[in-house]
Amino acid sequence: MDTLSEILIKTYPKSISLEDGTPVTLRPLLKVDGAALLEYFGSLPPEDRLCLKEDVTDPKVIENWIYELDYDTVLPLIALHNGNIVGDATLHFNPIGWTKHQAEVRLTTSSQYRVRGLGTLLVQNLIDIATRLGLEQISIEIPPVLDKAFYLFEKMGFKEVANLKGFVRDLQGTESDLVLMIKYLP
Ligand SMILES: CC(C)(COP(=O)(O)OP(=O)(O)OC[C@H]1O[C@@H](n2cnc3c(N)ncnc32)[C@H](O)[C@@H]1OP(=O)(O)O)[C@@H](O)C(=O)NCCC(=O)NCCS
Repeated sequence: MDTLSEILIKTYPKSISLEDGTPVTLRPLLKVDGAALLEYFGSLPPEDRLCLKEDVTDPKVIENWIYELDYDTVLPLIALHNGNIVGDATLHFNPIGWTKHQAEVRLTTSSQYRVRGLGTLLVQNLIDIATRLGLEQISIEIPPVLDKAFYLFEKMGFKEVANLKGFVRDLQGTESDLVLMIKYLP
């Protein structure tokens, strides 16, 4: 079985076309991408950053991510068009303990590039990597307000396994449910 480094070297950078023919390159985030990543997250509406768990518009948060960049812990896969980041999907590994057979996904795409298959392509790439690593489960946590994401992950074979009532708060501080979805890998 290939290691993560071997998979990444063999697979990326990868050129793909969105459903309307827009050419996009997929590759892991590099240390030089900090400014571009900050600009990308700053361009997303606040509600679209709800699932990211950290304030990604804070330069210190991104600086820290770049400083600590370690694909074996968190693998960020970015999509680029004309040199700009237009999508970001991360795979969070749990190398120790009772969740080491799992990884968690987080995903955003740029508002101007949506509904052209980019989100699906990014998630499919992460699923392929997790499968090649021999992981057994891949999960996503979604507040119901992000209903588009629910349909995307459902379409890709993720199933709702838990609905944690009132577990999170939205931007107005209102309690919201959190849906946990899991895809079992072959
Ligand atoms: C969810 C998100 C990543 C989808 O990105 P995308 O690039 O538009 O994804 P795709 O074009 O591959 O869409 C895939 C599916 O998502 C659903 N979807 C996406 N946009 C939709 C819309 N405007 N209306 C209805 N369904 C939509 C559909 O099921 C679609 O499949 P289909 O085209 O076969 O009908 C994007 O809307 C986003 O960044 N949202 C905010 C952050 C978020 O919700 N992240 C996920 C939780 S971490």
